[in-house]
This record gives sequence, C-alpha cells and structure tokens, in this order.
Amino acid sequence: MSKGKKLGREVAIVGSGMSKFGVFPEMTTRDLFVEAYKDMTHSVDKGFDPEDIEATYISNFSSDIFEGQCHTAPIMADWVGQIPKPATRIENACASGGITLRQGLIAIASGVCDVVLVGGTEKMTNLPTENVTDALAAAGDTLYEVNCGLTFPGLYATMATAHMHKYGTKPESLMRVGIKNHENGALNPKGQFNVSIAALMKSKQEKALNKGTPVPEWEDELAFMKDNAANPVIAWPLRLFDCSPVSDGAGCILLAAGEIARNFTDNPIYIIGTGQGSDHALPERKDLTSLTAVKVAAKQAYEMADVTPDEIDIAEVHDCFTIAEILAIEDLGFFPAGKGPKAIDEGLTRRDGSKPVNASGGLKSKGHPIGASGIGQVVEIWNQLRGEAGPRQVQNVRVGLTHNVGTTGGSGVVHIYERRN
Ligand code: COA
Repeated sequence: MSKGKKLGREVAIVGSGMSKFGVFPEMTTRDLFVEAYKDMTHSVDKGFDPEDIEATYISNFSSDIFEGQCHTAPIMADWVGQIPKPATRIENACASGGITLRQGLIAIASGVCDVVLVGGTEKMTNLPTENVTDALAAAGDTLYEVNCGLTFPGLYATMATAHMHKYGTKPESLMRVGIKNHENGALNPKGQFNVSIAALMKSKQEKALNKGTPVPEWEDELAFMKDNAANPVIAWPLRLFDCSPVSDGAGCILLAAGEIARNFTDNPIYIIGTGQGSDHALPERKDLTSLTAVKVAAKQAYEMADVTPDEIDIAEVHDCFTIAEILAIEDLGFFPAGKGPKAIDEGLTRRDGSKPVNASGGLKSKGHPIGASGIGQVVEIWNQLRGEAGPRQVQNVRVGLTHNVGTTGGSGVVHIYERRN
C-alpha cells in the first residue's frame, strides 16, 4: 500500500490540444492560446459545453517582458469565452506549466470545481536572443547567479561539467540526446524543428552544392555534432544542438472530476500522482549533478500513484539542455545516478527502447515556449496513452510521466498518468 498522500477525488484529462510551436511573428500570446484551445475542443470525443468550465488556470512566464502585458489570465479567459469566471495566472519559470496543471488538479480534487481549463502560453520571439537571454536569466537568482554573469546556458553548462567531473560523462552522450530528440521531433508536425540531424546534414550538403561552395563531409551524426561550424559552442560543453530554442506556442488541457469524466470521452486519462518541490539557487547546493526539487516531487508522485519508476512506460522530461535530460532520467529513478549517459548511449531512451523518453522531440526539438512547455508535455502523454501519436506512437503504453523544471531546479514538478481502457 502507498504511504503517500491521496487526491480527495479522482481527476482525469478529457481533452487536450496545442498550437504549433515555433516562430510566429504575426501571432500574439492570445492568438496562440486561442489556437491551442480550439485544438483542445476538437479532441473532446463527446464534445462539451464551454459553460461547464468553472475556472481557468494559465501558465505564463513573462508576457510582461516579452509583450508588455501583465495580468495575462483574464485576457486568455476572455478570448475563449470564460468571462466572468475565475482566471488565475501561475508563474514558476519553466515549471509554470506543470505547476498550473497541479493547481487545476487540486481545484477539482478539493471539490471546489468539477471542470477546469488549464492552459499555457508564451510569445518569446518578439525580442532578439540577447534580450530573451536577459529575460530568462531573471528566473535565476538575480543576486547570486545573474550578477556573476550566469545565463541559462552557463548555469546548465556548470551542471554538465560537474556531471562530467563526477561520473566521467562525455560530450558524446549529450550529443546523442540531441540526435534522439531531433529524430523524434521530425515525426511531430506541431514541433518547431521537424528535422532529424541526418536530414539536416543532407540539406546543408545540398545547399552547399547548389551554391557552389565546398560541400561539408560528415562521417555520421556525431561528426556533425562535433563540427564547430555546424554546431558552435554556446557555453562549453553545450553547443547549439544541446540547447532548446527560443519559441512561441501554447497548450490547453480540459480536466474533469473522475465521476463525470466519461460524459466527455470513453477514454479519459487519469492523473494518478502529483508532486512538487523547491530548492536553493545553484551556488548554495552541495551537489550540482542531481535536482533535489525533482527527487522530492518524484517521490510524492510515485507514492500517490503507488507505482515505481520501473512501471513508467513513457516519459516527457524537461530537456531545456541535453544535460537536463540526463539529470532527469537519473533523478526520476529510471537509471542509477551517473548511469544516465550509458542508458542514452545504449539507446534505452529511444522510442523503441525499454524506457522511451521525449517521444515528442522534447523541448530540444519540439520547442520551449516557457509557459506552454509543461502543458505541451501533457498533450504528448495524452496522445501517447490514447494511441493517437501517429508515426511517433510508442507501443504498449499505459502509465506515463511528465517532469517539468523551473530554472536549474528551483522548482520541480512531476505528474503520473494512467490509461484504464
Ligand atoms: N537548436 C538548433 N538550432 C537552433 C537553435 C537550437 N536551440 N536555436 C536556433 N537554431 C537555428 C535557427 O533555426 C537558425 O537556423 P538557420 O540558420 O538554418 O535558419 C540558426 O540556428 C540561427 O538562429 P538564431 O535564432 O540566430 O540563433 P541564436 O544564436 O540567436 O540563438 C541560442 C541560439 C542557442 C543562443 C538560443 O536558441 C537560446 O538562447 N537557447 C536557450 C533558450 C533558453 O535558455 N531557454 C530556457 C532554458 S531553462
């Protein structure tokens, strides 16, 4: 029997949708959210009356900085016809999406609501990369991290070098995370980069041939990843293809109390575990190779769901940088500490591996519109558990997990899901 806390009552996902993630100069935060909402409405098998929604929770990191728009939630609610019902924005940096899902879940589990709309939206590409970097850095500790010149690539590079020092991790394992996630992302039409590294190499060679410039020769994908011209260093050891991109996008989830879930669909996806943790800023941590906030969150979620890491069939994890995916698969207990790189090298986290991770392409390839990223992970798990993920469908999946991290682990949130049909 589980020692963990239990939800007051069952909660299920009955609809789920997302906008395409990418660069959309002509779209605003609200346009993206409306697109995701419409996509969600089409996914509700038996349809629903928008009047049934009792509250809206919106994940958004910083439309304040990106668009000059604060107080985002009532505006999103308005644009999908939810005025005058309550609308609340949640901001926990890159973990905003997962934590917003948790707030919607708690609203239903507590009995306050029966049907809740959970969304996430972010429009980042209005600003040039250097300004985006500054905006994102504000999620770090401005006194002890940002003032020392640390930006996000720098913070994660610090964690990567710590992992290399402690466990002998090689840059090739980081590169293999990027290769895998781009391969998966090539099969995701909603993703920002629909291209595998192999296809990208071919297209660069063709472009050079057509231009009459020297055609680059790469022996294989790893050779491309090691080529400073093709894959420049951003913050060593992290290169361009170790980083998630700057993205626009939105996602939307419809949650319902377990007892009414089958009014919406014969195939609801139940949320059976939730957990959340917090941590000090990076300079105050004893160990840079593991995230306490994630371990705490995972323990709560596993205990509530009464499942073990071995019972997770598929996971979407927060690969904002490739090292983050390695930390995730270790902290979630999929592989022992220090053994994540070996698992990656052996292909265990591929779609056909024993522990498929980031079948969507992950943040690396699908994109990382901060407030929408955690919601996008849930959309993928919904599609995968219902057998609706198209060419990237992973076979025989019943229990799924999402893992969403704010900054370098200042916040960590984990959810576990189950298909019962
Ligand atoms: N992965 C792969 N390709 C990328 C990429 C990424 N992360 N980011 C940009 N590109 C590609 C672009 O598509 C473009 O390709 P093209 O020349 O074929 O059209 C090329 O690289 C240049 O794009 P540009 O937007 O000018 O890149 P940039 O140098 O301004 O930005 C990064 C690159 C890595 C600095 C930027 O993506 C970044 O800051 N990422 C991290 C975001 C982050 O910290 N998120 C929060 C995590 S906690």
